[in-house]
Amino acid sequence: MALVALDALGKNDLEHLAHLTLAAAREHAPEWLPDLDAAREEISDALAADKASRVVLNPRRQPIGWVSAGLSWERVWELHPLIVAIEHQRRGHGLRLVREIERLAKEAGALTMTLGTSDTINATSLSGVDLYDDTFKRLANIEVHSSHAVDFWRRAGYQIVGVIPDAEGPGKPSITLARRL
Ligand SMILES: CC(C)(COP(=O)(O)OP(=O)(O)OC[C@H]1O[C@@H](n2cnc3c(N)ncnc32)[C@H](O)[C@@H]1OP(=O)(O)O)[C@@H](O)C(=O)NCCC(=O)NCCS
Repeated sequence: MALVALDALGKNDLEHLAHLTLAAAREHAPEWLPDLDAAREEISDALAADKASRVVLNPRRQPIGWVSAGLSWERVWELHPLIVAIEHQRRGHGLRLVREIERLAKEAGALTMTLGTSDTINATSLSGVDLYDDTFKRLANIEVHSSHAVDFWRRAGYQIVGVIPDAEGPGKPSITLARRL
């Protein structure tokens, strides 16, 4: 299946992407994208000149997932977002998008790719606790109770390198992961 940049998509395909983005984001973090306009905004942010992006197309050349990333500072790029349509998940598209955006970052001189994944659904042991207490012990002993993207990232070779307490509300952290490029 082909990979193209976001700016290669026409208006209808971008709109289709916004719909599948909203649906997939709701499963991961219900409060992340409140409505379709928020999903459209994610896409228009990723179309900015300082961002790189890739979209995976099905054989009918319709978008089924996408990724964006850009320079965060110095030799660090931040990946956000990564979305695969619900009905196309677990078929390797997510990992393929990650590897491709990592390649672009590396080509641009990045040494590190970083990202944050929030836990607002009590999916891990980092949710609903005081992360200022025993922070590093909690990170070292993280348990994932139900399906959560943090396991996808670990399978993709990312390491947990930190956590931002209460990033999405009291007891709802953002888990920071990174990978050497
Ligand atoms: C996370 C997401 C992008 C993964 O995409 P995907 O196409 O389903 O992932 P892949 O098929 O490439 O999976 C690669 C590996 O990760 C594993 N994996 C994928 N999602 C997983 C999950 N939720 N929990 C545990 N493992 C997972 C796969 O089983 C596979 O492992 P394997 O190589 O041992 O078989 C997709 O589920 C998604 O869009 N979710 C909603 C949005 C989201 O959470 N984005 C990330 C926010 S930080």
